[in-house]
Amino acid sequence: MKTEKNIVLDYLRAYAIILLMTCHLANAQGHGYEERKQMMQAMRMSVRQNVIPVTNATYQEECGSCHFAYPPGLLPIASWQKMINNLADHFGENAELDDMTQRKLNEYVVNNAAEFSPYPLANRLINSLNHKLIPMRITEIPYIAHKHWKLPFKMVEDNPQVKSLSYCNQCHQGAEKGVYHRHDVLIPNYETLHHCDL
Ligand code: HEC
Ligand code: HEC
Repeated sequence: MKTEKNIVLDYLRAYAIILLMTCHLANAQGHGYEERKQMMQAMRMSVRQNVIPVTNATYQEECGSCHFAYPPGLLPIASWQKMINNLADHFGENAELDDMTQRKLNEYVVNNAAEFSPYPLANRLINSLNHKLIPMRITEIPYIAHKHWKLPFKMVEDNPQVKSLSYCNQCHQGAEKGVYHRHDVLIPNYETLHHCDL
């Protein structure tokens, strides 16, 4: 009969074997220290992922020229529909597209909107909206606003490398990979700052 101690030992053994195999595999493929470090970093990044990164090439191209292409999982369906149907007046810019492209992008963003995101961050975004608001900005979502309210002007608006909270990727190093974890933040010109100091 297996005692609890035996079960724990079994787990430890299995874990040790996995660890050994991982090292062997990495070595067998001829990865040097730097490459392995990068692999480990990539693995850590994927663990921290909290929204699906952009996968649609048309979206990346059409919506990633003025700012980085926002992952659709950061806004609810209603917001995307309103935005995609009103691109001629897009925050003071004309971002209009031909009908075909607009329809394709509409389908992409709606199918990947926060409501369909597998990550808990999406629930936090939607719940903070309280079923009332249809935000036109991610930065308007109460959960997002709340996460950043302590950041002083000098680090955001008055920081020439940031300009506004809308440029998520300036601070969130993994923004394009769908990583918005507080441990992966580096504010330009304030690189030494730890998130606990904010
Ligand atoms: C011609 C330039 C331009 C193009 C093309 C463009 N945008 Fe924008 N977008 C802007 C500007 C300017 C802002 C406002 C940024 C600010 O306030 O600093 C903005 C803001 C946004 C925001 C709100 C960000 C926030 O503050 O939370 C979203 C979402 C967005 N755009 C999505 C899109 C999508 C989707 C497309 C493609 C269909 C697109 N944009 C194409 C210029 C553009
Ligand atoms: C000026 C730099 C800066 C910009 C720009 C910025 N953030 Fe952040 N963000 C931070 C910092 C710093 C924190 C950590 C706050 C804390 O720990 O209290 C944070 C926290 C977050 C969190 C919570 C993460 C966690 O682990 O709890 C999310 C989600 C987030 N940001 C999303 C965004 C999105 C989406 C955008 C763009 C629309 C954005 N941020 C723009 C600096 C920034």
